[in-house]
Amino acid sequence: MSEYIEANKKSWGIIARDHYEVFKARLLANETTLSQTQIEELGDIAGKKLIHLQCNTGADTLSLARMGATVTGVDLVPENIHYARKLATDLGIDDARFIESNVLEIMDKAIPECHEKYDIVFTTEGVLCWLPDLYLWARNARHLLAEDGFLYVLDSHPFYMIWDEARLPELVVKYPYFQKNADEDGWIGGYASEGKPAVNYSWMYTMGEIVTALSQAGLHIEWLHEFDWLFFRLSAEKQIKDAQKNWIFPEHQGKLPYTFSLKATVR
Ligand SMILES: C[S@@+](CC[C@H](N)C(=O)[O-])C[C@H]1O[C@@H](n2cnc3c(N)ncnc32)[C@H](O)[C@@H]1O
Repeated sequence: MSEYIEANKKSWGIIARDHYEVFKARLLANETTLSQTQIEELGDIAGKKLIHLQCNTGADTLSLARMGATVTGVDLVPENIHYARKLATDLGIDDARFIESNVLEIMDKAIPECHEKYDIVFTTEGVLCWLPDLYLWARNARHLLAEDGFLYVLDSHPFYMIWDEARLPELVVKYPYFQKNADEDGWIGGYASEGKPAVNYSWMYTMGEIVTALSQAGLHIEWLHEFDWLFFRLSAEKQIKDAQKNWIFPEHQGKLPYTFSLKATVR
């Protein structure tokens, strides 16, 4: 495992307990942690066998279980898996499975869950930027899919990733769209609980690379949607919620892409 991935593993571990506490309160209040967009785009998942890649502390995984899917969550970080299992117990969801793995190493793992076939491979909200090799990610996702299954992705739009986040809605390019090297940051989290200082590394991808990686792994993109909202609050003062409870910069509504989602099937 590269030193970058090791650093990320350590960083995410630092905030695992905080995430667990926040998500537990929401789920015990019978809230779902999934957005309306995710629920609508997924459709009826009752009875489906679903694997959630980069599941964090399992909140979305267990929200998917409450929609009737049989779920397995995968995450790099042992603390996340520990708290995901604890959350499942808290919620009385007995058949949820959680496994610790780098999503780029699933095909090589001697863990039975990594070689089963799933109706849905699900991965959303802050996932692709943590992966140093999107082509390997796409092959691992394909490996998990049943022949009539589909992959669902919802994540930050690559075009949004170029902006200086502290300056938005002012448009100042900070991260080149075509950047290939890892970006080092000294802060982790902040979208569910308070962020904390910890060195971590992330990567940029173009929309072309995302589509090409999936296509080369043998997947067919049924649709790719682009949205003018973010799925988290970046700025307390400058963003408002739209009708679907997503975070928008009013100046950019209907003008700039912030989020994308896609559905890919086996060709
Ligand atoms: C922003 S969070 C995902 C958010 C998620 N939607 C949620 O419910 O909180 C990113 C997750 O990716 C995980 N992660 C980062 N790199 C990974 C890798 N190479 N393999 C598996 N999980 C990874 C982190 O541990 C973290 O839980």
